[in-house]
Amino acid sequence: MKIFSLYNIKGGVGKTTTAVNLAYLSASEGARTLIWDLDPQGSTSYYLCVKPSIKGGTKELLGGRPDPQSALRMTGFPNLDLLPADITYRHMETQIDHQSKPLLALQRILKPLQKQFDHVFVDCPPGIGMVAENVFHMSDVLLIPLIPTPLSLRAYNSLVQFLVKRRANRLQVLPFFNMINDHKPIHRVVTRNVFGKHPIFLQSIIPESNIIEAMGVKRSPVFSYARESQEATAYRNLWNEIKQRDARRTRTPAPV
Ligand SMILES: Nc1ncnc2c1ncn2[C@@H]1O[C@H](COP(=O)(O)OP(=O)(O)OP(=O)(O)O)[C@@H](O)[C@H]1O
Ligand SMILES: [Mg+2]
Repeated sequence: MKIFSLYNIKGGVGKTTTAVNLAYLSASEGARTLIWDLDPQGSTSYYLCVKPSIKGGTKELLGGRPDPQSALRMTGFPNLDLLPADITYRHMETQIDHQSKPLLALQRILKPLQKQFDHVFVDCPPGIGMVAENVFHMSDVLLIPLIPTPLSLRAYNSLVQFLVKRRANRLQVLPFFNMINDHKPIHRVVTRNVFGKHPIFLQSIIPESNIIEAMGVKRSPVFSYARESQEATAYRNLWNEIKQRDARRTRTPAPV
């Protein structure tokens, strides 16, 4: 079971949108795929038309009761299941602190599902508390969507410094740009500078697009309603590049 987490300290950068589309692609290729909506906002659950609710909430889930198996929901897409959000996830930071081994709390939840899934996509909430530390600990790949602005890069640099200090060497960090708008000079300048100097960044970019934003209305991945669009192709390219990079493990991240 390989765990890909969509993560950024910043909010509103495209974690959920990307998680849903990549999980769909993974499942459509036949990989048994789970998407975990770890954000109390429940946006992934909303996109996939599943009620954001877990019986017993965060406390029971962290305690292993019930088995996470019973919390899984089908999405209607072949090979794609969802571990939904629950509003009580808002207490997760403090409840993780009360666990006997706080850094392993989220990993423990996924453990019984290990043989059942090939790929897990975790849609993380923004922030850098204990939930994030758990995500760094349990994930194989950290996928970081960034809007190409100086403030976004600043947040990315803080994260890289944090990971280097924590010696999170096992974790493969793959940043990429989302919501690129070629008409914005700042986007052109930032992407040109970063691509020239930082090969750790994925070359595939996701454009700013009304078709992608429409996911909120259609409540489904872009492939359901715009399969042949450039946006669908952009997500396919991104997923293919992630798989290639994943196969040949890459560099340690450095500040940009
Ligand atoms: N490439 C894109 N083009 C246009 N709109 C986009 C794109 N990616 C995401 N959005 C829109 O931007 C908003 C934020 O996206 P999303 O919810 O995926 O971000 P997030 O990082 O998960 O946010 P949060 O931190 O609140 O969980 C949403 O309204 C979404 O529809
Ligand atoms: Mg989100």
